[in-house]
Formats: sequence, C-alpha cells, structure tokens
Amino acid sequence: MSLVSEIDFGTPAVKSPETVSLTIDGQAVTVPEGTSIMRAAREAGIKVPKLCAYDMVQSFGSCRMCLVEIKGRPGTPASCTTPVAEGMEVTTQNQRLAKLRRNVMELYISDHPLDCLTCAANGNCELQDTAGEVGLREVRYGYAGANHLDQEKDASNPYFTFDPAKCIVCSRCVRACEEVQGTFALTIDGRGFASHVAAGMDEDFLQSECVSCGACVQACPTATLIEKSVIEMGQPEHGVVTTCAYCGVGCSFKAEMRGEEVVRMVPSKDGKANHGHSCVKGRFAWGYANHKDRILKPMVRAKVTDPWREVSWEEAIAHTASEFRRIQAKYGKDSVGGITSSRCTDEETYLVQKLVRGVFGNNNTDTCARVCHSPTGYGLSKTFGTSAGTQDFDSVADADVVMVIGANPTDAHPVFASHMKKRLRAGAKLIVVDPRRTDLVRSAHVEAQYHLPLRPGTNVAVLNALAHVIVGEGLVRDDFVRERCDTEAFADWVAFIKRPENSPEAVAKHSGVPAATIRAAARLYGGAGNGAIYYGLGVTEHSQGTTAVMAMANLAMATGNLGRRGVGVNPLRGQNNVQGSCDMGSFPHELPGYRHISDEKVRALFEHDWGVSLEPEPGLRINNMLDAAVDGSFKGIYIEGEDILQSDPDTAHVAAGLAAMECVVVQDLFLNETAVYAHVFLPGSTFLEKDGTFINAERRIGMVRKAMRPKNGYADWEITQLIARAMGKAWSYTHPSQIMDEIARLTPTFAGVSFERLEREGSMQWPVNDKAPTGTPIMHVGGFVRGKGMFLVTEYVATDEKTGPRFPLLLTTGRILSQYNVGAQTRRTGNVVWHEEDRLEIHPHDAEQRGVRDGDWVRLASRSGETTLRARVTERVAPGVVYTTFHHPETQANVVTTDYSDWATNCPEYKVTAVQVGLSNGPTEWQTRYEAQAERSRRVAEAVPAAE
Ligand code: SF4
Ligand code: SF4
Ligand code: SF4
Ligand code: FES
Repeated sequence: MSLVSEIDFGTPAVKSPETVSLTIDGQAVTVPEGTSIMRAAREAGIKVPKLCAYDMVQSFGSCRMCLVEIKGRPGTPASCTTPVAEGMEVTTQNQRLAKLRRNVMELYISDHPLDCLTCAANGNCELQDTAGEVGLREVRYGYAGANHLDQEKDASNPYFTFDPAKCIVCSRCVRACEEVQGTFALTIDGRGFASHVAAGMDEDFLQSECVSCGACVQACPTATLIEKSVIEMGQPEHGVVTTCAYCGVGCSFKAEMRGEEVVRMVPSKDGKANHGHSCVKGRFAWGYANHKDRILKPMVRAKVTDPWREVSWEEAIAHTASEFRRIQAKYGKDSVGGITSSRCTDEETYLVQKLVRGVFGNNNTDTCARVCHSPTGYGLSKTFGTSAGTQDFDSVADADVVMVIGANPTDAHPVFASHMKKRLRAGAKLIVVDPRRTDLVRSAHVEAQYHLPLRPGTNVAVLNALAHVIVGEGLVRDDFVRERCDTEAFADWVAFIKRPENSPEAVAKHSGVPAATIRAAARLYGGAGNGAIYYGLGVTEHSQGTTAVMAMANLAMATGNLGRRGVGVNPLRGQNNVQGSCDMGSFPHELPGYRHISDEKVRALFEHDWGVSLEPEPGLRINNMLDAAVDGSFKGIYIEGEDILQSDPDTAHVAAGLAAMECVVVQDLFLNETAVYAHVFLPGSTFLEKDGTFINAERRIGMVRKAMRPKNGYADWEITQLIARAMGKAWSYTHPSQIMDEIARLTPTFAGVSFERLEREGSMQWPVNDKAPTGTPIMHVGGFVRGKGMFLVTEYVATDEKTGPRFPLLLTTGRILSQYNVGAQTRRTGNVVWHEEDRLEIHPHDAEQRGVRDGDWVRLASRSGETTLRARVTERVAPGVVYTTFHHPETQANVVTTDYSDWATNCPEYKVTAVQVGLSNGPTEWQTRYEAQAERSRRVAEAVPAAE
C-alpha cells in the first residue's frame, strides 16, 4: 500500500445523539452536536490550515492558523475551538483569512531553522505543508533578533530525539502525553518568548518519567520530536497495516517501510483495540527482527553436546520427520508431542495442533497458556459457559468502578492502561487488589480509592470476603440473579459465603488486608452502577487460580455486573496471541473452539475434514510430557516459538525432561535457552514476515500482514507444513487464508471469519457467525452462553507453599513495561536501557534485617533452587514479600519457583514461593555454567550469517 497518512480531523470525534446542520463554504454539513467547525469541515472534505490542533487530543486554540469567518459573528474565531451551531454559515477561505494566516506563519518561520532540504521530516512536516497551504513567500522579520535556533538537541531517548530549535510550542506533545498516554511527563515551562517544552523537571527525556510510548512523537507537527530511525533511514515510502506481536492488547500499526526495511511503526487510528496509541514495545522495539543473533539457517546435531551443523532446509526437515517416525516406531505413538506458540499466528498454531493430532496421531499438544491463563479458560467456562473475557476494551469507558486484581496494566498492558486511566481521570473509582503498590495505586491524576495489599496466595480468601460483605449488606442484585442465574446454585453459594471464615475479619488475619478496607472496597464495587473487574496472572498463577477466577465470576453475577458495557470479568492476556492459541485447540483435551476431544460428533467433523482418525483421550500437558520424559516414555518434541526452559517453573525439572529426550526440535528466532537441549533448530520468522491473524484479550481477530519476505526462507506455518508432508501427509496450503477457511469451516465461533471479511471490517471479535455476523463486542448479553449463570462454591485452601524459618519470605513475580516475557525480543532492542537486569524488590525492613542495601548482590533461594541478582530496596512491596521480574536468563527467577500448580489446570504457582534472601558472594554454580553456555551460543550466532 502506498504511504497515505491517516486523515487528521483536527479535533476528536464527538459522540452525541443530537445532530447540528450548518454550511461550510456553501456546503451543507450535518454532524453530532459539540463537533468543532474544523472537524465538521474536514469530514466534509474541506481542509482548514492548522498547527496546534490534532484529532487525538482536545483543541487548545493557540496557533491562530485555523481562523474562519462566521456569518453574523464578529472577528475570526478559531475553528478548532468553536463548536458548530444550527444554521451557522462558515467561510474557511478568503483573502482576509489568507493574509491573517500568512502573517501568523511568518512569525513561526522567523524563529525556525530554514534547513528543510536536510531536515529528516522533509516531505512529512505539517509546518512545511501549512506554509505551502497559506502561500508563504517571504519572511519580513528576518532572523537577526532573539531566537531559539541554537538550542541543544536531546538525544537521550534510544528511539527519538527532541530538537527544541524546531519547536513551535504548539503543545500537541504535552496534550498527547496527558490525554492519550496519561503520564504527564511534559509541560510547557516559562512564559512568552521563554516558553518551551520541558520533560519532567526540565531534564532530558531519559531521566524524566517519560515511558517512551511515542505519543508525543506522533503528535509533533515538526521534526522537533522525531524517530531516530527516520533520521537514519529517511522518510518511509510505503506502509503495511499489521498487528503488534507483543502483548495481548493487540494494537494495530502501520509498518512504514522503505523497500523491505521497517523505518518506523505508526499506531493506526483505525485500530479498534488501540485507537492510534501504542507503547514503547510495539512502536519502537522491532529491531530484534534484524538482530545479528537471529538464526537464519537450519541446524542439526546428533547429541546436545555436539557442535551445531548448518544444513539445508531439505535435510533439516527430512531429519526431523525421520527422527519422529523412528521414535514412534520404537517407543510408541504417544512418545512424541508438540508445543504451540502464543507468539505465532492463529493459522500457525492451528497447524501445530493439527500436526500433533493428525500426523503424530495423539493429543500431546499444549501451549504456554498452560502456564498463564488456563485457569481463566476453566473458571469462566464453568461459570459462564465460555472461557473468553466478557468485554471489549472500549467498555471500560462506561465503568463507574474498576477493580484491578493481580494485574499491572501500566507495565504489562500499557495501551489498555492508558485507556483505563482516562476513564479514572474522568471520575470512575478504582480498587487495586495486589501485594505490590503498583503504579496504578497512585500515579499522575489517578489514585485508587482502596488498595488491598494482600499476602500472595490469599486471592480466594479476599474475593470471598468481598462477596461476604456484598451478601451480608444486601448488595446482591436479586433481579439479575433470579432471571439470569441458576438459583439453586446461588442459594448454595450464599450459604457458603455467609460462613464466618469468609468474613473480612477472619480473612484479614491471613490476607493481611484490614477488614475495614475489605468492607469499604466491597461496598464500592457492590454499590457501583457499573463495576468492571480486570485481572491478570496475579490471579491465575496460583494453586487456587481456577477457584479465584470462579470467585470473581460469582462476584460479578451477584452484583449483576455482566452482559452490558462498563462491567464484566476481563482477563488481561499476556502474549499477543495467547487467546488465539487457546482458541485454536492447543490444549490436549480440546479441539479448536474449546470442544472436548472426547466428543464423538466433533471428532468426526475433524476426522472427515482431515482424513485421519483422532484419539478420543486427552493427551499430555507440558508438565506431563516432561514427567514422562524423565520416566523414559516420552522421547521427542516439536516446540514452536516457546522457550520453556526459561518460561516454565522449576527450571531443573524442565531441563531434566528435555535432556531425557532423543529429539528436541526448537523452532524460534534465536537460539533460546531451550535450544541448549535441542537436536534440531529450525529458524522461525517474525510477524513482519508473514500473513495471518492474532487474537487479542478482547477476542479481537486482527490481521497480521507480510511487510517483507521471511529472512529465514519460510513463514512458520510453511515449516510445519513441510514437516507434515515429510511425514506423509499431503498438506497443500498455499496461503494462511486457506487455513483460516478451514478453521471457520470446523469451528462454529469462527464460522463467519475469513481474510476477505477481515480485510473489509478491519478486525472482528469472535463469536462471528450467523447469530453475530459482525462479531461480539460484549458477551452474555441477555443470557449466559451456558444458559443460566452458575455460582460455584469457592472454598479458600491455603497453598502448600508455606513460609517457615528456612524460607521466611514470599516471592512473587511480574513484568516490566520495557521488557516482554523472557526477553528474547526486547533484550535485543534499545529497551535494555530501561531494564538491563532483573532486580529483587525487598522492603526496607526485610533488607535491614539482612544487612542488604540498595544495589547489593543477593542470593535468592527456595526449596527448588537459587539464583543471584541485585536488590532494590523499596516500599512498593510489603514487609515479608519480595518481587522480581523474569526477563533475563542470567537470573532466571523460575529456577526458584516450585512445582506447585493450580488444582484444575496445572497452571504453575509462579506467584507464591517461600524464599530466603541473603547477601551473596557471587553467582551460583548454574549461573557460572550458564555464562559459559551463553558464550558458546554467542559464538554459534556469530558463525552463521547475520540478518541484514
Ligand atoms: S514518549 Fe509518551 S510518555 Fe514520553 S513524553 Fe512522549 S507522550 Fe509522554
Ligand atoms: S515538540 Fe512538537 S508537538 Fe511539542 S510543542 Fe514542539 S512542535 Fe509542538
Ligand atoms: S500495548 Fe501491547 S499490543 Fe500495544 S503496542 Fe504495547 S506491546 Fe504492542
Ligand atoms: S489549529 Fe486552531 S488555533 Fe491552532
């Protein structure tokens, strides 16, 4: 697609049921009441010159470029700040207005460097364009007087520069930072001639509280704020609209290209999940696609201690196929399996589970959702009838009370967090349930009414206590329960929840949250017009993860907070396509669309379509595969885009399982940690190199489009197809759209989905079928998918992971904004300036007891293992709790996490580990070994041709 900028309407769209009719330059126009004249004109195709207006932020009216005449009104009002009125007659162009605009432009240009030809924004500069539009021919004031031309450039941010010499002080950046991002990092400092844009306390961008979302860069009409990549590479010449490959928000972007090189990523205003916004990862952290560490040629080796041997694709695929056949012949059909990737597309994930079921002939398929949101799937399907989140992201704009439980959206789901914070600034109330004082608890212009800093592992107890208050204080929505829910189950639940052990006073003792705070929070949520719950892995990654999901569902049903906008129970999914990988049948017990493998009719459907017979028994989960490997019955695995050695709990056990296998095939971009145990390495492709779809946390199916040819030669779906063909199946897909057609044919919730429709609609939220031809933004409207909503008794059972004299502290883990998951991508980008290493957060009291000071190296030990990392002494964590991230393989927090897991789904209990912390004398033994191994891997990476 040629590079056509999205239209900037000057001011945001207004939602109003009332309309207003007027004429602009003689043209009749009808728009919603409250629309600015500027926007009404642009919607009618009339462009009014402008500089300070921008349709992502409210108008400011400072530049005076957009003056218009209105019949019967004196003067020349600014069209960006003047709302339309019935019968208004507006003139946007005449000699008088042109002269006024030229005069204004002259003043701007007299204090602007005239280096247009060598400026990085040349050809894409609104100042330049507007000067042309108003017919500027001379600058009468000259450059002799005081000016700003020798101001110093700030290049501290890794991705963009700030050149104050080019600034026209339009404040678009300041408003974007406030209104779009909600960080408030920028201000206009000083007055009159001295007024200037200041980051933080007038420091450089890197030192300030800027989170590098890039909203200001996108807003800037000049080259003042501009991407370093544009300065280096020049202006892009074509664009490809695609979906971010990082988190579950699923932001839509235009990859702006020169040939096959990305120049920059610009968030799409048409993107229904992000509405033109992004975070630092999606906008800037795409450089990993070209990183020299990327492996582009397949490699094999007989033993994991042998050096890698680079081979042709033919040899690698033939070797893989013959190894799997050999293993199955020797150890049985069930001795091999596969792991699908939540980073790959739906079509690729679908093919991996199809390979396992239809070619390997068993159901030994699993996915990383096992270790994050499997309790969501189970808990929500038991209570509501489907495992999906209930709302679209936009729904939060109608919430009156938002309860965030075990989630840190400003770090892990930043664009949704910005959206949520906008609603909170507009008056919605906030309850945060989290052991840590996350940014949401208190940030610029946002403050939680209640923070419930519960002890890790006590979610269920606290949720039950909230429900206890709601039931005890008459806050149950009886009408909703009577009409929409199973009333017998409700009565059982009420009897349970009223029990004294569920009272806030009883729960306060083990959760550490004062009873009064629990009561107040329950009253706030229970009394809300619209109460919305958003939750994350701080809920699911527990031995009672599924119970906690059910407890939230109970709360929402009891208070009638389901089935409309502004309410719901919403999982914030981690990886970009974790929703899709679950939808596509990655779990061992479910075919695509969450249909149980034991269902004969469903199986018959797939058997007929695929021309195979399917096993009716569920296969092995990841941890069962590893157990079986250690026991000697599981011998081969195909792992697509997943680094289980780093991301799964109890690293020593994962390593033992992998080491016991005879053929480990890793398909990835980089020689990841799991590849240490691999016999075959198949280079994978990035999201920029293929077509397909991702599904975000709101069930939105978004298009991924190929912006360049795969540097490794094949998209991942093609590699899986090559393996299937080498194993004797005549798969013959020539494009992922054919795979989606097959998914739609076999999966009722996707029946109306096709690439052609997605091209037309932009994106759609499943279910998309005859009943919901344009998709389903809100679930359970008028009735639950399962019929009646099912209340379930959610007894609190304390985890077996207990603190004691040996391990007196509780470790919980999480993510940070600049890094993503195990860091394989983000560690290979400029994002490392913000997070070079994982650190252990420890409360000052616990630190002092151990003689630990900020920055000291400490040893973190549990009954599973130990690691060494540096300490950060902070009150963000409560006494008795420590916290770290898991982005760096040098520290691998999962060496410490245990093998405890959720009772229903085996989701590991990452969030609760009893640990001890003490000063360290140096790296642990495994860290020393790791460094040596990493050095070997680096040498391999250097030995193979680097990506251009
Ligand atoms: S990059 Fe984002 S956070 Fe930083 S100053 Fe710009 S808008 Fe604000
Ligand atoms: S940096 Fe750009 S957006 Fe901000 S005030 Fe200056 S010209 Fe306007
Ligand atoms: S919020 Fe998530 S999807 Fe959006 S740009 Fe950031 S990482 Fe990508
Ligand atoms: S665009 Fe209207 S005053 Fe600047």
